[in-house]
Amino acid sequence: MPRTPVRPFRSRDWFADPARSDMTALYLERFMNYGITPEELRSGRPIIGIAQTGSDLSPCNRIHLDLARRVRDGIRDAGGIPMEFPVHPIFENCRRPTAALDRNLAYLGLVEILYGYPIDAVVLTTGCDKTTPSGIMAASTVDIPAIVLSGGPMLDGWHEGELVGSGTVIWRSRRKLAAGEIDEEEFLNRACDSAPSAGHCNTMGTASTMNAVAEALGLSLTGCAAIPAPYRERGQIAYETGRRIVDMAYEDLRPSRILTRRSFLNAIAVVSAAGGSSNAQPHIQAMARHAGVEIGPDDWSAAYDLPLIVNMQPAGKYLGERFHRAGGVPAVMWELLGAGRLDGDCLTVTGRSVADNLAGREASDREVIRPFADPLMDRAGFLVLKGNLFDFAIMKTSVISDAFRQRYLSRPGQEGVFEARAIVFDGSDDYHHRINDPALDIDENCILVIRGSGPIGWPGSAEVVNMQPPDALIRKGILALPTLGDGRQSGTSDSPSILNASPESAAGGGLAWLRTGDILRIDLNDGTCDALVDAAEIAHRKAEAPPPVPASHTPWEELYREKTGQLADGAVLEFAVNYRAVADKTPRH
Ligand code: FES
Ligand code: MG
Repeated sequence: MPRTPVRPFRSRDWFADPARSDMTALYLERFMNYGITPEELRSGRPIIGIAQTGSDLSPCNRIHLDLARRVRDGIRDAGGIPMEFPVHPIFENCRRPTAALDRNLAYLGLVEILYGYPIDAVVLTTGCDKTTPSGIMAASTVDIPAIVLSGGPMLDGWHEGELVGSGTVIWRSRRKLAAGEIDEEEFLNRACDSAPSAGHCNTMGTASTMNAVAEALGLSLTGCAAIPAPYRERGQIAYETGRRIVDMAYEDLRPSRILTRRSFLNAIAVVSAAGGSSNAQPHIQAMARHAGVEIGPDDWSAAYDLPLIVNMQPAGKYLGERFHRAGGVPAVMWELLGAGRLDGDCLTVTGRSVADNLAGREASDREVIRPFADPLMDRAGFLVLKGNLFDFAIMKTSVISDAFRQRYLSRPGQEGVFEARAIVFDGSDDYHHRINDPALDIDENCILVIRGSGPIGWPGSAEVVNMQPPDALIRKGILALPTLGDGRQSGTSDSPSILNASPESAAGGGLAWLRTGDILRIDLNDGTCDALVDAAEIAHRKAEAPPPVPASHTPWEELYREKTGQLADGAVLEFAVNYRAVADKTPRH
């Protein structure tokens, strides 16, 4: 039955403009080469883009090369015309100097594609960490109907009868290597065993976190985020996603109707209760800013009291398969909704509310998804800190180990407060060169500080703040020291670092004047972190040359540094947030 869209499809301007039949002919002729006929293009059916993030360079998203077939089937069956196109690749582990440079680059490229081609709605294929926020940021800027299809996590990794999670196994094995418990061969075996199939990281690292965020925001079908990549259900939900986006095109159900302050608060609640990645902070901030939604540090603080209810590495024990079977993201949201900590009224891509989507989605495995009232840990969200070294930083409290709590946060009468002697590193090369230098005299009363690792300093902001203690300390059983930095850390890391410090040293932040030997006082009760250095001395040091910043080596690095803001503000291209709903303005012929 012919359907009428709520508003005319923008592709009509390419393929059915009576005033420019010459141009229409030009637009039509080439698509025949791969089987879309001029009749189809003129039929008035919506053209649905499939933003393909999988490639040999993006192995975490390679499953989408297969899933796209199922998406196409769904689009065709629902009466749309699929057009698949590549997105700039992003691969977290392998991209130097950091994949963080690519989030904004993929965003820019995708905006131009969605704006400049005859695309009426889009399926965003997501997986590896930054593929999710970059796609959502672009969909907001363009504001055509968009739906997120996660590729899903890898199968659970097992090594000699023990669950080994991707990413997390690296940090844990590094400590074992430093302690002399394993050799390099064993390190490699453990790493490979942690990644047994197609899919993104199987831990609650940044990839699982950001796909959970997409679902919490209302941008994917219910239950989509956590289905492991090789599972039968993954292909099924790819098909359903293809079907649904065609209806969304007819309904003109755009990101601007789904992404509201309330939906972003839902996302922050899910990240906090799931023990999600600290990278969610800049990514959520970036997506909110591109959506024109006000979100800030207070919103993370307001979610700090949420309990940890997901028992998944790095904060807990299990991995993605078990999480999915326990009920996945809907079961987490179900708990939050029941506790009054989720807004059930938000609209989602299903066309229904969050609460409607969650009906009957209670967890089936309470070992993995705990009841809100009986969590793994109380008050396990993100702490926001500030002080004389920075205006903003966060700490993921769900990964604070009992040993760390005992050593630093449990002095009688002084709970949550500690002082530590700073050991300052200028970037990760400096750290690696000097961490085992006995002259630094690093003991358990030290805090490891890294600067030069923010958006401008690195450039891009690197996952380097989870610095490991010197080998000698590890051999004594001290597996973690407090750390602080203006960079980020991997979402798979179990280090309770103070991260994302903004402004960074390269932007004039206080870490620039900090020196090895200074005493830092950290008070988690009132969210402060200060160097105990007097004002005159600070002024004196500020007059000296700041730490060196490496040169840009590519044109994009230079442009990125010029246009990108700080992690506190989402590290977005600042000028780009002024562009919104650009698809409302049809590009000229
Ligand atoms: Fe790509 Fe973890 S490295 S998902
Ligand atoms: Mg990462």
